[in-house]
Amino acid sequence: MISALTEDAVSHATTSHKNIEVRKASMQDIPNLLALINGYAAKGIMLPRTEFELSENMRDFTVAYDGNRLAGCGALHFYSPAIGEVRSLAVAETHKTHGIGRLIVEALVYEAKMYGLDAVFAFTYVPGFFGKVGFNEVERGELPLKAWKDCLRCPKFHSCDEIAVLRVLRPQRWEQRQPGLPVLGVEGGMVVILPTVRH
Ligand SMILES: CC(C)(COP(=O)(O)OP(=O)(O)OC[C@H]1O[C@@H](n2cnc3c(N)ncnc32)[C@H](O)[C@@H]1OP(=O)(O)O)[C@@H](O)C(=O)NCCC(=O)NCCS
Repeated sequence: MISALTEDAVSHATTSHKNIEVRKASMQDIPNLLALINGYAAKGIMLPRTEFELSENMRDFTVAYDGNRLAGCGALHFYSPAIGEVRSLAVAETHKTHGIGRLIVEALVYEAKMYGLDAVFAFTYVPGFFGKVGFNEVERGELPLKAWKDCLRCPKFHSCDEIAVLRVLRPQRWEQRQPGLPVLGVEGGMVVILPTVRH
């Protein structure tokens, strides 16, 4: 039900922190999102985002609020009919380790399932966290080429130490795309290989 993806479809989730409200983001959240994401970007932990980029991709975003304070955010970005990326995931320093990151990832995974994706991936410095929320490490170079477009403007492009992680949502459909059918599509004349899950 797409209505479940709209801003007014608010879910109140209780974490060990407090009563946290998880909902789709709106344009009014942009100042808070810029402060949270770019605060981590200044420390080299996340990619910086501009107001323009956030506006352009606002429908990707889910936010978690503790009262009127932004406690966390995350985005689901589509790359193909089969796969999307969990990105711009951040929990405020004041709210870390109380289950809010997990709540946001689960909301994004729910959304990915609603849209019929077979899998979601992320590039991350915190594979331990993603392991706890159902992701497995994969070979970074095997993710969709489009996913690399953010890398082109990243200062760490030539010395990237992020780890790629993948969560399969529809194992049967995913398996059908595995070794026998390794080619996902052709992007600008380049073949895109499906990720292989490391067990
Ligand atoms: C990574 C981040 C989103 C985790 O959010 P969080 O709300 O603190 O995580 P949660 O409390 O939901 O943790 C869920 C589980 O992951 C574990 N976990 C949390 N952070 C972890 C970390 N850095 N390394 C390993 N495990 C971690 C928790 O212990 C918990 O495990 P449990 O279920 O066994 O108790 C948060 O630390 C953050 O915003 N970091 C800075 C920005 C960042 O690195 N974003 C990721 C970009 S891809």
